[in-house]
Amino acid sequence: MIFLLNYYKIIDVFSIGEILLAVFIFIAIHYWRINRNTPMTIWPIMGMLPSLIHNVSNFPDYINSLLQQNGGTIIFEGPWLTKMKIVFTSDSMNVQHITSTKFENYGKGNDFEEIFEVLGDGIFRSDFHIWKYNRTLLHSIFKQENFQVFLHKTIEKKIFSSLLVFLDHACKNGLQVDLQDIFHRLTFDNICSIVLGSDPLCLSIDLPEIECERAFTYADNTFFLRHVKPKFFWKLQKWLQIGDEKKFTENRKIVDQWLYSKIKSKKEMQGEQQFDLVSIILRQSIGDGKNPIDDENKFLRDTSINLLAAGRDTIGSALTWFFWLVATHPIVEAKILEEIKENLPSRKDNWKYLGVEVLNKLTYLHGTICEVLRLYPPLPFEHKSSLKSDVLPSGHKIKSNTKILYSLYSVGRMEKLWGEDCLEFKPERWISKKGGIIQVPSYKFIAFNAGPRTCLGKDISFIEIKMIAASILMNYQIQVVEDHPIIPSISVILHMRHGLKVNVKKRSI
Ligand code: HEM
Repeated sequence: MIFLLNYYKIIDVFSIGEILLAVFIFIAIHYWRINRNTPMTIWPIMGMLPSLIHNVSNFPDYINSLLQQNGGTIIFEGPWLTKMKIVFTSDSMNVQHITSTKFENYGKGNDFEEIFEVLGDGIFRSDFHIWKYNRTLLHSIFKQENFQVFLHKTIEKKIFSSLLVFLDHACKNGLQVDLQDIFHRLTFDNICSIVLGSDPLCLSIDLPEIECERAFTYADNTFFLRHVKPKFFWKLQKWLQIGDEKKFTENRKIVDQWLYSKIKSKKEMQGEQQFDLVSIILRQSIGDGKNPIDDENKFLRDTSINLLAAGRDTIGSALTWFFWLVATHPIVEAKILEEIKENLPSRKDNWKYLGVEVLNKLTYLHGTICEVLRLYPPLPFEHKSSLKSDVLPSGHKIKSNTKILYSLYSVGRMEKLWGEDCLEFKPERWISKKGGIIQVPSYKFIAFNAGPRTCLGKDISFIEIKMIAASILMNYQIQVVEDHPIIPSISVILHMRHGLKVNVKKRSI
């Protein structure tokens, strides 16, 4: 009775709104006190989503700090009723388990398929027999000598006809250059030539806006947001065609129209001896009638878009971080130049470029690229989903259909794996006493993934990065603009949010 009287008195003095506000503040303080010593704040109703959104601007570092503080594995719980649960891990034993030992139990899963639906039935988005078919086909093409010769010639031609021409122009005119933009243009031109046999000419002195390149670039941001937003939310945006989902649909149409027109013209040119990927597929695999997708043009479209995604941003990102690290570590730069000088076949000629055979001898350059990819893997996270329940080597229980993100970024920064100096940029850690490259297991040096789904373009990547890096270092001195902010972008690929602004000066070694 007394309680009820007090209750009515309270209602008299305070409005319902004020009481609710007080209760809310009480709960907020309670949760703040529970969570103040843990890096992951768990909010009522919203779970850990607010912390994730708050830290989204530097996502790889945020997840890295959580993983380092929590023994290498954390479980992220999203808002109530959203079924948003993600296991993040950087434990190398877990990574080996997921990628190799229990490979059959960890596929791409439904969420990945929905987020990356634009990739169709291509190798990145497929599992089981469609993946196997794609992998066998691409593996056999990448090994062909004709294809490799074509690839090297294509990259070499592009370096001479566009990259060096542009950098000469920048030197002569004292232009400040966004090297990241230059690498995106260069690698897009390269991969289009390699896959479609057609160069969109994004890299030229006037830096043109090329519609298909801009449309292609837009997708990356949307993929990231689809990971962070609750599924129902981005799906609603897509259904209503509003916000970034509307823009994504528009850009997708542009990319598809462009790809189908390229495929059409490739088919019309069939019979000519060409060694781009689509021409080779048209000659050998479509003809054998074994491809698992009925629509031939869709199969070619899916294969092409997957390879454009695989081979463009990854190399562009690796080159950008490479030049930032090398330009800010003059001793490393001097050692690379010394190694190049020692391997120059003759000093008499006007050296602008080294051939593939010479580049393959440059051990220190190779170690430097490994070190860049250890610290800044172009794909900072890998996305998997469990088919059946399982227990990870770390002891974490996994139910079926659980989303798992292993952080390639964190694996490269684990003190347990790389020692106390794990955060330092030291190419020397890759060089053996005898002067060769130290081989590191792929679940430790994870930038190219591990197990049966290891990157098929690893060798292509090393050679392309070496060709481009050596040709720039031999001919130009790159100076990063003072105080230029270096922050990762909010995207699936580890780009730099503000690009890489540099000044370029001529150099001859
Ligand atoms: C520095 C450059 C590169 C890095 C760091 C890199 C990294 C990776 C990673 C982490 C994966 C696993 C992705 C996943 O399963 O979701 C992957 C897969 C793949 N990569 Fe690369 N990649 C690079 C360049 C390339 C290039 C240039 C090509 C081809 C032209 C290529 C072709 C592929 C293919 C076909 C797969 C799919 C393998 C499979 O699922 O079986 N990559 N790459």
